[in-house]
Amino acid sequence: MALRHVVLLGPPGAGKGTQAKQIINELGLVHLSTGDILRDEVSRETELGKTAKGFMDRGDLVPDQLIIDMIRGRIEAADQGFLLDGFPRTTAQAEALAAFATIDVVLNIGLAREEVVRRLAGRRVCRDCGAIYNLTFNLAEGETTCAKCGGELYQRDDDKTEVIANRYDIYERSTAPLIEYYTRQGVVRTLDGAAGSENVFSEILELLSA
Ligand code: AP5
Repeated sequence: MALRHVVLLGPPGAGKGTQAKQIINELGLVHLSTGDILRDEVSRETELGKTAKGFMDRGDLVPDQLIIDMIRGRIEAADQGFLLDGFPRTTAQAEALAAFATIDVVLNIGLAREEVVRRLAGRRVCRDCGAIYNLTFNLAEGETTCAKCGGELYQRDDDKTEVIANRYDIYERSTAPLIEYYTRQGVVRTLDGAAGSENVFSEILELLSA
């Protein structure tokens, strides 16, 4: 039976968003990225966005209950299956999720701190289609437009060097314990995020179709 309830776990910059875009094209799952949903709330200046912005700009986590209230309806509506990217991020979020959805597999993408810093400092994102690029790998210095749609490329506020360090610390403290939480349920598959993104993707496809 195909695996339709999938969680992407890993430190900031491990490649969750990059892989998610390819996985949903291939498997038709609904991509639910709490980071993307929050950034949209911030840009529309909603009440939630105004509350979340301060936490996000510092690289801190947004309070659990706000996140759970934001994501629950979207998960329940995803009849064809979902790919969770950035959720759950704390044990409290994982326990809340378990009360209304089952998880078939957790794809845990690992990446060392030094590589996280290097990648995030070089990341640029398209404002229009969300395509993700990197100055180190696939974007010429000074290039400011998206090769896919012509949209403007920008640097996320939380990709400043001082904020990246805090995000990684919080990942280790609050999110990494979920590897053990889901290992106890027998659903974790670990991937090496340092491999090229095409290699990571092939491995994920194999795991999801096994
Ligand atoms: P969120 O947007 O979820 O950020 P994150 O988890 O820190 O993840 P990133 O988007 O930074 O990294 P990624 O793994 O997707 O990497 P990417 O594919 O872009 O959250 C942002 C904020 O929102 C949080 O800090 C928090 O405040 C709040 N928030 C969100 N969810 C929350 C929750 N559940 N609870 C509380 N607060 C929450 O890749 C990175 C770069 O590397 C790119 O440039 C890419 O081109 C490159 N790259 C990717 N893969 C490879 C590869 N294999 N080889 C080489 N380069 C690669």
